[in-house]
Amino acid sequence: MEVKTSLLDNMIGVSDMVLLEPLTEDSFLENLRKRFDHNEIYTYIGSVVISMNPYRSLPIYTPDKVEEYRNRNFYELSPHIYALADEAYRSLRDQDKDQCILITGESGAGKTEASKLVMSYVAAVCGKGQEVNKVKEQLLQSNPVLEAFGNAKTVRNDNSSRFGKYMDIEFDFKGDPLGGVISNYLLEKSRVVKQPRGERNFHIFYQLLSGASDDTLKKLKLDRDFSKFNYLSLDSAAVNGLDDAANFRTVRNAMQIVGFMEDEVQSVLELVAAVLKLGNIEFKPESRCNGNDESRIKDKNDLKEMCELLGIEQSVLERAFSYRTVEAKLEKVSTTLNVAQAYYARDALAKNLYSRLFSWLVTRINESIKAQTKSRHKVMGVLDIYGFEIFEDNSFEQFIINYCNEKLQQIFIELTLREEQEEYVREGIEWTNIEYFNNAIICDLIENNQNGILAMLDEECLRPGTVTDETFLDKLNTICAKHQHFESRLSKNSKFLTDHSLPHSCFRIQHYAGKVLYQVEGFVDKNNDLLYRDLSQAMYKATHSLIKQLFPEGNPAKVNLKRPPTAGFQFRASVGTLMKNLKTKNPNYIRCIKPNEKKASHIFTESLVRHQVRYLGLMENVRVRRAGYAFRQLYEPCLERYKMLCKRTWPHWKGPAREGVEVLMGDLQIPTEEYSYGRSKIFIRNPRTLFSLEERRRECLQDLATLIQKIYRGWKCRRQFLLMKKSQIVVAAWYRRFAQQKKYKKIKSATTVVQSYTRGWQARKLLRELKYQKRCEEAATTISAYWHGTQVRREYRKFFRANAGKKIYDFTIQRIMQKYFLSLKSNMPSMSPVDNKWPNRPYLFLDGVHKELRRIFHHWRCKKYRNQFTEERKTVYEEKLEASEIFKDKKALYPSSVNQPFKGDYLEISKNPKYQKLSSAMDEKVLLADVVNKINRANGKGTARIFLLTKKSVVLADQKTGQVKTSVPLPDLDSVSVSTQSDGFFALKLKEGSASAIKGDFLLSSEHLIEIITKLHRTGAMAADREQLNIDISDEFLVQFKQDKVCVKFIQGVSKNGNNASCKRKNNRLLEVLVPSSA
Ligand SMILES: Nc1ncnc2c1ncn2[C@@H]1O[C@H](COP(=O)(O)OP(=O)(O)OP(=O)(O)O)[C@@H](O)[C@H]1O
Ligand SMILES: [Mg+2]
Repeated sequence: MEVKTSLLDNMIGVSDMVLLEPLTEDSFLENLRKRFDHNEIYTYIGSVVISMNPYRSLPIYTPDKVEEYRNRNFYELSPHIYALADEAYRSLRDQDKDQCILITGESGAGKTEASKLVMSYVAAVCGKGQEVNKVKEQLLQSNPVLEAFGNAKTVRNDNSSRFGKYMDIEFDFKGDPLGGVISNYLLEKSRVVKQPRGERNFHIFYQLLSGASDDTLKKLKLDRDFSKFNYLSLDSAAVNGLDDAANFRTVRNAMQIVGFMEDEVQSVLELVAAVLKLGNIEFKPESRCNGNDESRIKDKNDLKEMCELLGIEQSVLERAFSYRTVEAKLEKVSTTLNVAQAYYARDALAKNLYSRLFSWLVTRINESIKAQTKSRHKVMGVLDIYGFEIFEDNSFEQFIINYCNEKLQQIFIELTLREEQEEYVREGIEWTNIEYFNNAIICDLIENNQNGILAMLDEECLRPGTVTDETFLDKLNTICAKHQHFESRLSKNSKFLTDHSLPHSCFRIQHYAGKVLYQVEGFVDKNNDLLYRDLSQAMYKATHSLIKQLFPEGNPAKVNLKRPPTAGFQFRASVGTLMKNLKTKNPNYIRCIKPNEKKASHIFTESLVRHQVRYLGLMENVRVRRAGYAFRQLYEPCLERYKMLCKRTWPHWKGPAREGVEVLMGDLQIPTEEYSYGRSKIFIRNPRTLFSLEERRRECLQDLATLIQKIYRGWKCRRQFLLMKKSQIVVAAWYRRFAQQKKYKKIKSATTVVQSYTRGWQARKLLRELKYQKRCEEAATTISAYWHGTQVRREYRKFFRANAGKKIYDFTIQRIMQKYFLSLKSNMPSMSPVDNKWPNRPYLFLDGVHKELRRIFHHWRCKKYRNQFTEERKTVYEEKLEASEIFKDKKALYPSSVNQPFKGDYLEISKNPKYQKLSSAMDEKVLLADVVNKINRANGKGTARIFLLTKKSVVLADQKTGQVKTSVPLPDLDSVSVSTQSDGFFALKLKEGSASAIKGDFLLSSEHLIEIITKLHRTGAMAADREQLNIDISDEFLVQFKQDKVCVKFIQGVSKNGNNASCKRKNNRLLEVLVPSSA
């Protein structure tokens, strides 16, 4: 079951005064006090919110609170200003009703704060988005700007609004703010030039001097010291809890957000500075010859600075302070001003300047915040005016302020009453009129067109002849004398003649909020609100654009001789418009009450509150509300709230709500005179009835709570039990499964073991049987074999001799050999000595024979091959064989020579006619003829020579001519030296002491080195008379060149001649031969 909250829950005292029982003024105050002591500053009278100023910040305006009150019914939560704002906003958004929030109360009661709270709440709950947020921000930030220029510290309030403000916030159909329009009402401008004791001028003056930078002040030609300015009262320049410097920054920031340009802000500050400067201009009298005193400016410095600030010619302003030009039709008369008139003119200028600046600010803000679209808007108006005030000296301003409050009270009375009446009619309830104090009579006293005070004041101001405040009072005394709310010493009403509290120059009005004594002095002047034309013209001549704009009547081209409407007339008209405007909207009331005069928290001055309760007509308000019925509620929420009190409506009523409520009321046996059924609501006459309903509900709720608790506990235990049972089943199932699984596994493994044992046993048994069977079979076979053998032997024994075995063996061998040789014969390899094939050996025991046969066959084959050779070929092979013996594995050149046949005569010397001579010079057969290089010792280069070898000598001849150069007999050759490498160098060394040795050894190189050396060696070997020629193979050997021995050294490396070795002379004793490594 959903239990809805209500303002009746947890309430301190009574949250709605309509339910107060008994309803007396004392109980009303006691309830207010009780709630105030518990920080419950808001209390309802039906839909009206009473707000007590707590004079301290309470934690009830947090974003959480905003959320709490958002979209809730008015009576759902404890009273709060947010509930009223929410109700107004929702009714605007959802029911398309324009709203106005009327905030009333005396000065310092918290109206301005309340209006800001309403605005901030609406801003918080309405739509979001970049554009919407900007509009919201601008609307909210207009407050600090207007407060700085329009609020001041008074004895009643440190931040007292000195102007009336009505702000229309415009919304689109979705409830998103589009913009706003601010209307301002009569600024208390007299404050600019004079402040009562203990009060201050408007905040902006102090904020500018405290918060502006030195630079700014210098530009504005101002001094930070307040005492330097006549217009600033000093006794309360600094206010507790007000940080003027910080507020100045806030104001500058707010102006920027609202959309003021930097130069506009500067102009505004210049005007503020100009007002301060103006106050410092002082006058002195100067006697004229006609005996009159004329005023002169004492110290022109301030005037000069002010003129510089505003761009006014000093002489023009100076003249405007000394003369006054009066224009009448075609005449123009100039009169001099005396000191008093000059001061009057100065102050009038200052007041006008400031109040016009203030109006300009409002217009400028309106320009920024005005809605951009022209579509139809929904409007929520918030009215925050100066509160009703009574000072020691009350003047024209207080009269105007209090008149405005009087009008608001009137509209409150009218509308609340009408609302109430309308509701009864709407709901079809019988209604009897209720007496209440109607302040229309007071309003009439002030605003009546014929004989109202304001009308008389205007009449007096416009009357030709001498007009003074006294003449005005006289007029009042004659016309209003009989009015029951008007009192004056000289009125014809004799009862006041002896009233000493009523001075002669005063009149007293019995306002709805108390009697106020007004000093008549200044009424005429203030109502006229005249500024000498010379001054407005001087202002118009200024080069400062803003000031020129503020004094349009100073334009000489537009001289208007008609008197401007009086201040009273203007105000009456604007209040009239405002009232009309308010009446078209759905009103929401916040009635602010001031708990004490000390601006202190926690103090509840009963007399003060009682006074306010009385004049605000709050008791009447409650009575009116209760006259018919104290409490009303729609049928649905009523049934919802109390349905538990009746069995038939509990827990659900199926039919229409009204019938449910009727059943409920009948069942509860509430006397029928205690309530009435409206069309949509039930009306309860007596609060006691409601309280008894509430009490029964409370008791019933307790029983219900116990029942719910009981059922809940039972349900909870049962649920727990069922859960446990279910869990137990699950656990048991799992456990059983686990146990069965375990058991099964155990049985299974046991079975497997038993099975494996059985199978093993069976297998072994079978194996044993099979083995036995096999053994039996084998034994039988063996036995039968033996048996057969024995049988056979026994049978054949008679045919065998003792050596039969050997013969069989020999025979077998012979057969085998026969077979072997026959197969060898048919598989013989070719006769080529290089053919390596040989048939496989058939039996191991023939291995030796097989190898030997192969060797013999090969030798035989070779012999056969050799036998085919001719003598010449034989020699060639012998030479090759010899070369192999000499060089194989000793010289790297050898392998390449194996394939080259040894031709011997490369030059075909006998056939070549070129060498005929040389050939004939040879007495022996030339064994070898080739071209060799003879290496020159001096440079290692070679010279081509023909090398000839015969059986007896070695001959070197010129290659070209064929002329024999040297002939060395072979016996003179001692040895031949060659390297181990692949070069063709060789040295022929001669025997020491031989005839040839004189010429020295020869170092030669040849492409057929292997052949030359082999042949040399062979020739030597064949000659029986000579020793064998030594062949020395080494990479370093000595060669005797004539006298010197030179070492020839062979090195592997890169030769100049590409692949051929090259010889190079290193020094006298060393010739180096570079042999290419790849060669
Ligand atoms: N709800 C509140 N919470 C805390 N302080 C408050 C509240 N309402 C008012 N005050 C305090 O009371 C002071 C006076 O309030 P406020 O300026 O709203 O009075 P006012 O009714 O507008 O007076 P006036 O008619 O002189 O303009 C505020 O400056 C603030 O200090
Ligand atoms: Mg205010």
